[in-house]
Amino acid sequence: MNTSQSFDRAANIYDQTRPLPEATATRGIQAILDITGPEAFILDERTGTGRVNIPLLERGARFIGCDLSMKMLMRLHEKFSSARLAQADAALLPLPTNYFDAVLTVHVMHLVGPWREALREFR
Ligand SMILES: C[S@@+](CC[C@H](N)C(=O)[O-])C[C@H]1O[C@@H](n2cnc3c(N)ncnc32)[C@H](O)[C@@H]1O
Repeated sequence: MNTSQSFDRAANIYDQTRPLPEATATRGIQAILDITGPEAFILDERTGTGRVNIPLLERGARFIGCDLSMKMLMRLHEKFSSARLAQADAALLPLPTNYFDAVLTVHVMHLVGPWREALREFR
C-alpha cells in the first residue's frame, strides 16, 4: 500500500492552518475516550503535530503516535515532550500485530487511495 505523503514541508504552518474545531476539542475528544475506555492502548496513525493526540494525552489516554514526517513529530514533541512517538510508514509499523486496543486516524483517509486495504491493516 503506497499512500505516503510526508508533511515535512507543512510542519511549520500546519497548526495555524488546521485549528481543532471547538466541538471536536470538547465533545469529540470525550467521545473517543468514552468509546475506547480509560485503559485502552491507542495507535494514532499519521498523528502529525498531535492536533488530536495531545488533547487525549492531556486527559490521560495511553498512546503511540506514528508518522512518516520527522518534522511533524518534532512539532508534536515540542508541545508534549513525553508523548510516545514512532517515525514510521503506517504500512510498515515496527510493532507486533494486536499490540493496540484501538486505532485512531484523523484527516487521513482522503489521502489514502486503497482505503479498504488500509482499514484491513488497521484491523
Ligand atoms: C493531513 S495530516 C493529518 C495529521 C493528524 N492526524 C491531524 O489530524 O492533524 C497527514 C499526516 O500523515 C502523514 N503520513 C503520510 N503518509 C504516511 C505514511 N505512509 N505513514 C505514516 N504517516 C504518513 C503525514 O506526514 C502527515 O503528518
